[in-house]
Amino acid sequence: MQADLLIYNAGQVLTMAGFSHRPKRGPELADTGLIKNAAVAVSQGRIVAVGPESEVKQDVRLEREGLAIDARGGVVLPGWVDPHTHVLYAGSREEEFALKLAGVSYLEILRRGGGINTTVRHCRAASDQELLAQTRARLQTMLHHGTTTAEAKSGYGLSVEEELRHLRLINALAREGPLDLIPTFLGAHAVPPEYRGRQSEYVELVIEEMLPRVAAEKLALFCDVFCEEGVFSVEESRRILTRARELGLKLKIHAEELSETGGARLAAELGAVSADHLLHVSPEGMQALAQSGVMAVLLPGTSFYLREKYAPAREMIEAGVAVALATDANPGSCPCENMQLVVNLACLYLRLTPEEALAAATINAAHAVGRAHLVGSIEKGKQADLVIYEARDYRYLAYHFGVNLARWVIKKGRPVKTPA
Ligand code: NIG
Ligand code: FE
Repeated sequence: MQADLLIYNAGQVLTMAGFSHRPKRGPELADTGLIKNAAVAVSQGRIVAVGPESEVKQDVRLEREGLAIDARGGVVLPGWVDPHTHVLYAGSREEEFALKLAGVSYLEILRRGGGINTTVRHCRAASDQELLAQTRARLQTMLHHGTTTAEAKSGYGLSVEEELRHLRLINALAREGPLDLIPTFLGAHAVPPEYRGRQSEYVELVIEEMLPRVAAEKLALFCDVFCEEGVFSVEESRRILTRARELGLKLKIHAEELSETGGARLAAELGAVSADHLLHVSPEGMQALAQSGVMAVLLPGTSFYLREKYAPAREMIEAGVAVALATDANPGSCPCENMQLVVNLACLYLRLTPEEALAAATINAAHAVGRAHLVGSIEKGKQADLVIYEARDYRYLAYHFGVNLARWVIKKGRPVKTPA
């Protein structure tokens, strides 16, 4: 067998193999598919062999122009899949961060016309070139920390033309690569200032004008809603998501982030792919997720940054809910692009084991964006999205925090980050 890339001398390869057809649940999350003293061979962007180095070297011949990477005993993982981000935006909100430190709550800032609507103002004032440049820089940060696939939501446009513009830009960045992006329409992220006091008219705009155009132009795979006390109600969310489903979009929902509203049960009722956040999910909500097979996307960086409680992850795992991890990268509740930090926080505060956290950030995260047939594990035939970490043991990734441990990042068989 021919290869154009060979990674050898890997102390540990965590393959996460065997779960391309459905997410890992319960005790399955503990099995990382670990291979010691391993090698991975790649041809034309696809994995062609993975296993103990002696076996791979027997089966595979590296082409003359091929690249051999010495992993120097390090740990190799599938690239992170970040299944919940608001990465396309302009500007930043450090003034509001100072307000928050002084005790003003996230929702109070939103009520005062700030928060999400501050970023909406920044985005509306930004040219395509500005939005693209600022977002590219963040995508580069993600990539350098080992994220090779990410979901990206609109939701800072909040008018027909602006929402469409943001989705077109997300699609343009997806075509540009190297990071793979999955676009999500989040027109119901907040009520924009010009619709203040006319919430129901804004909901109609989302349903009657935005969604049909998003679907007609095929600008998004998913539709999401910020279902929250004082933002969009369960009833409004149900109407928006039902229309989205009729138009062929898959569903996600921001559920039980700052209070318990019943968003998790709505996700189950509508057959959403995921319900995200879930800090305040009820036991009935958890049961509904488990029974319907809706994934729980957990965002511990947001709990950390809002100084809120953490989602009851252990209870969810025990109830049989499939969990994934994401950054929530956004300018308000979690200005962070780093999935390594999310893994640290998941272990410390969601009380996941390192094995569970790594599975939740790779193969299960791939399921949360409908890409598990392509990415999320190191298996023959899958896209060669691979990261070599400066670590002897995979548990070191959960342990050493606040620095970037990724030494090599390989996207579709091509190095996009190399050691300094
Ligand atoms: O997931 N909850 C809504 N959206 C983001 C925050 C967006 C923002 O504050 O700009 C979140 O927390
Ligand atoms: Fe979010």
